[in-house]
Amino acid sequence: MIKYLGSKRLLVPRIVALAQAVPGARTALDLFTGTTRVAQGLKAVGFHVTANDRATYSEVLARAYVELGARTAPDCRALLAHLDAVPARRGYFTRTFCEEARFFQPANGMRIDAMRAEIDVIAPRGPMRALLLTALLEAADRVDSTTGLQMAYLKGWSRRSARPLALRAPRLLAGTGTVRREGALELVSGAGTFDIAYLDPPYNQHSYFANYHIWETLVRGDAPEAYGIARKRTDCRVQKSAFNARTQAWDAMRTVVHGVRARHVLLSFSDEGFFTTQAIRALLAERFDEVAIVPVPARRYVGARIGIHNPRGERVGEVSHLQNTELLFVAGPDAAGIVERARAGEMAAAC
Ligand SMILES: C[S@@+](CC[C@H](N)C(=O)[O-])C[C@H]1O[C@@H](n2cnc3c(N)ncnc32)[C@H](O)[C@@H]1O
Repeated sequence: MIKYLGSKRLLVPRIVALAQAVPGARTALDLFTGTTRVAQGLKAVGFHVTANDRATYSEVLARAYVELGARTAPDCRALLAHLDAVPARRGYFTRTFCEEARFFQPANGMRIDAMRAEIDVIAPRGPMRALLLTALLEAADRVDSTTGLQMAYLKGWSRRSARPLALRAPRLLAGTGTVRREGALELVSGAGTFDIAYLDPPYNQHSYFANYHIWETLVRGDAPEAYGIARKRTDCRVQKSAFNARTQAWDAMRTVVHGVRARHVLLSFSDEGFFTTQAIRALLAERFDEVAIVPVPARRYVGARIGIHNPRGERVGEVSHLQNTELLFVAGPDAAGIVERARAGEMAAAC
């Protein structure tokens, strides 16, 4: 799975335990699915999941990991071997992200260029395309030279960037799900009715579209004009999320919380986000009779841990703290009981 700011990698077991503690729950909406980790966690325990995100790379991951079922999906191994053998060639990806910037070593960039073009030929649409694009995206992520964000690359090459790009077949889960790629505000009330909605919106000004512009370009396979040291797509300047703007984010949260058609809502937010815990609790309480909160200590993203650097890559300062608290809000009937049962379930599983 790709490195991703705000990915719920460590929280997935807890979120899944909460969802399982909701009596009779079978269907779930993951409205901001990102890497699809949470959607996968829910799918793995039997939920029918609808995964949504605005990002094109997230849609591809969801088509592989959420929509497709392990038993019914096509076998992509022969085509991965075919892609592996395609001769490397220098194209947009190499020029933009390996020469004008240094996100990948050129030898890997040229293989990415060649494989990406070949995918359009051998899998122009359908499930196979999602599998091949997912394999390429994940392979590229394993050889990048960043701290996990694409706003900047490392001053010196990361050790992993020297490894040759290697494709692996995505490990799919049993069962199937549903995928959407829409703005949350536009989709929320028309998405359908769910037992549980998991809401994990961006919590501050950092734009996912800009932070993961290379994945967006790789999956789209376009060749947009690029700007700045990070060679971002020019549409990063206009494609904004209301959740990233302090002046719009509260209204956006309200729209989602009031619009989502689910008996229970699980909402993730950070104590470093735009809103206080009390404000979010009050917002959920406008709609739900019961709200409970599970605070989870978390390590801050790797960029915070390696310090503050200037554009030349020199370390110029330290961040103030390395820990933050992820807040999991549970809203809906018997919220406190759900938290208790989830905790008991997690403890039993740990014994
Ligand atoms: C905190 S991340 C979600 C992380 C995800 N739970 C995971 O574990 O990978 C927030 C996500 O919201 C998406 N996003 C931002 N604005 C959006 C909008 N208006 N509608 C839908 N998705 C949006 C971003 O692309 C990003 O993937």
